[in-house]
Amino acid sequence: MAKIIPTGKSLGCAIEGIDLAKPLSAADFELILEAFGRYGVLRFPNQSLPPAGHKAFASRFGSLEINVAAGHYCVPGHPEVMVLSNIVENGKAIGLKDAGQDWHTDMSYSRTVAFLNVLHALEVPVRNGITLGATEFLDMCAAYDDLPATIKSRIASLTATHDFNKFWDEMLKRPGTQRKPLTPEQRAQKPPVSHPVVQEHPISGRKALYCTVGYVVKIDGVPSAQNDELMAYLFKHQVQDKYKYVHRWAKGDVLAWDNLWTMHNALPDYRDDEPRHMRRCQVMADWVFKAPEVARVRARTTPTAQR
Ligand code: SIN
Repeated sequence: MAKIIPTGKSLGCAIEGIDLAKPLSAADFELILEAFGRYGVLRFPNQSLPPAGHKAFASRFGSLEINVAAGHYCVPGHPEVMVLSNIVENGKAIGLKDAGQDWHTDMSYSRTVAFLNVLHALEVPVRNGITLGATEFLDMCAAYDDLPATIKSRIASLTATHDFNKFWDEMLKRPGTQRKPLTPEQRAQKPPVSHPVVQEHPISGRKALYCTVGYVVKIDGVPSAQNDELMAYLFKHQVQDKYKYVHRWAKGDVLAWDNLWTMHNALPDYRDDEPRHMRRCQVMADWVFKAPEVARVRARTTPTAQR
């Protein structure tokens, strides 16, 4: 029997009693969907998911992305399963070691954005009994709710341009990065795209600020001086500690989070000789905007005004 244990913050819960390696029952599936709308960041402890099982679970919620930069960073034979790791074997990095190490929203740079990120922790760095390499999250519904009415009406119908290169180029500047500049072909695969700055969540019906500091390069149609000022305001507003939940990993965790109303940041507070090894599937927000299961959960769980 599945049991939800909320963290007590606006984000985060643990879901116990579900073995993700087995097919999900309809009831567990809807419980998980509802939890995405309500808690955003879902921890399934003590899981053991081989790459095929990882894909099978993640793909229940939408199509899986093959990352533009995945290259040799995926599990052989499973291009949808990316390896995030600082482990080096026979002189060769087995994964991307600095993925997500600043505030961002996954795949906001894509025409079809991400619904979920599903990470499975195979190795977690521990020093002197303290777990390192946590992932921090920010609640973008709470951030939207707190905006002054003047800003809410100013951004209500605006869109922002998101560019994959922004985050990649920032990471290239970091000492010791293994990243290489994107090739023209990789850049062409992910041209800048625009998305509304305020998005309504398909499950909860709540409005979320969708203007991630990691990828947004401009607010469309706003003259440049005001653009810089508005972006600076929104970027500062969204990263306040009051919106933050920190997930400290345990080996075996599967953490699935909803990118439509969260941002995240992987903390690089561990050394290269302290292994952190994750597998990741990214789920696109294609299915979630049209699925009957989502409409059912929304009708059952949200006040009429938000349906
Ligand atoms: C990511 O941003 O996808 C990686 C997050 C993490 O490794 O904690």
